[in-house]
Amino acid sequence: MTAGALQTLAFRCAELTAIVLFILGLVFLSSPATARLGNRLAAVGMIIALIAFLSLTQGVGWWAIAIGMVVGGMVGLISALRVKMTAMPQMVALFNGAGGAAALYISTIEYYSGQAPYPSLLIVSLVLSAIIGALSAGGSLIAFLKLQEVMSGRPITYKGQQIVNGVVALGIVALAIWTISTHGDVPAAAIDALLVGAFVLGVLFVLPIGGADMPVVISLLNSFTGVAVAITGFELGHELLIVAGTLVGASGTLLTILMGRAMNRPLTNVLFGAFGAAAGSETTAATGGPQNIRSASVDDVAVLLAYARNVMVVPGYGMAVAQAQHSVKALADQLEARGVSVKYAIHPVAGRMPGHMNVLLAEANVPYPALLDMDDVNPEFPTTDVALVIGANDVTNPAARNVRSSPIYGMPILDVDKAHNVIVLKRSMRSGFAGIENPLYELPNCSMLFGDAKASVDALTAAVKAQ
Ligand code: TAP
Repeated sequence: MTAGALQTLAFRCAELTAIVLFILGLVFLSSPATARLGNRLAAVGMIIALIAFLSLTQGVGWWAIAIGMVVGGMVGLISALRVKMTAMPQMVALFNGAGGAAALYISTIEYYSGQAPYPSLLIVSLVLSAIIGALSAGGSLIAFLKLQEVMSGRPITYKGQQIVNGVVALGIVALAIWTISTHGDVPAAAIDALLVGAFVLGVLFVLPIGGADMPVVISLLNSFTGVAVAITGFELGHELLIVAGTLVGASGTLLTILMGRAMNRPLTNVLFGAFGAAAGSETTAATGGPQNIRSASVDDVAVLLAYARNVMVVPGYGMAVAQAQHSVKALADQLEARGVSVKYAIHPVAGRMPGHMNVLLAEANVPYPALLDMDDVNPEFPTTDVALVIGANDVTNPAARNVRSSPIYGMPILDVDKAHNVIVLKRSMRSGFAGIENPLYELPNCSMLFGDAKASVDALTAAVKAQ
């Protein structure tokens, strides 16, 4: 075997290993218990892929790529180490935007380094990956700015918005058809207009979507980036890029669908419905707010918890805001030391990103078997002594079951109202993400413990200890 053939064989083996590791990574990522392993496997796959591609590069190019990899890797490492869990969605948005921009960049370079007429498959790939990459980069940038609160998270709407978006979209389609039908033989200005137009459309598309809907949008844009990368793979003739891009595209699409399903909202409603617009307090104020609310003291709740047989912790977005997960674990330890059984009920869209509660509780070393999925936990509520709702609201709202006019009607919820006692830890009577009142708070078996979730849980731990 010649040295060249040997090098190709080694490259193909590395490529195949990386592909297998990416797929295994996704498989393991589907369970909280194996997610860390999945992440590591995919990272090892990526390192193997990068080394394999670097070994193919000849001439001065390789050190430039190596410097880029080291600088990019350092930026990624430092930001991943420093980012707060609650800021994770915007970091994902930023990285996703970088992926889209990379696909856009490669397509543009490929176009300008060649000469029209391009073969049909190549020009279709170049145009599609550039458009989807630019759209994803523009949209991700706005998603990042909204979540980072650099700009308002409220939907930005104006008269004739859909028409403006439609005109820009039609312009892009027309330019794309022109470029493809002439095999790329168009003026440079047309290419520039196509790329800028796609970026602008990404921006315009995300502007009217509320900040709280951004995780769903980011997941969708993530699938766009995957598709753009896969198409780039066709341009460059790189199988690994095609596989990696397809995996990202497919998993992003599935995640988007699953999130929409768990919120019982069609994707069109997320993208065009401005659902996240309603500020909760407005809705509450408009109807005068819930009536007959019972407020409990820390000591009352501590007695209830200390003498319960079993307690179901129901965490939500407020636990993430308060960063109360370690305090929650300390309270659970205290209760378990007294012989109380403590479990955690996890709603698939509790918080603001998929797996939000699982990640926070894992960070606090809550054992995975104690985290129960909605379908498994709901039959347990009728035999639960205390449902301790910590900063969760919408995911516990019984209106989803029985109020047909409610915007969340049909959304599967945690049946906390069926527990013998429900204690809700939140700061006020303000509503959650959906901006609607929660009739749970008016039920005779429900009491509120007002205050920041972390402060309340810490006070409860001390009070239980004193029992
Ligand atoms: P929410 O319904 O948003 O309610 C969170 C509650 O936490 C609020 O009512 C708030 O009340 C309370 N809170 C905020 N900060 C707090 C603090 N420091 N201490 C104590 N309480 C605090 O949360 P949820 O029940 O987790 O539901 C999630 C919602 O987000 C759903 O509507 C879901 O559809 C939506 N969503 C989820 C996702 C994903 S993937 N998870 C993505 C997009 C949208 P106060 O202000 O009175 O304290």
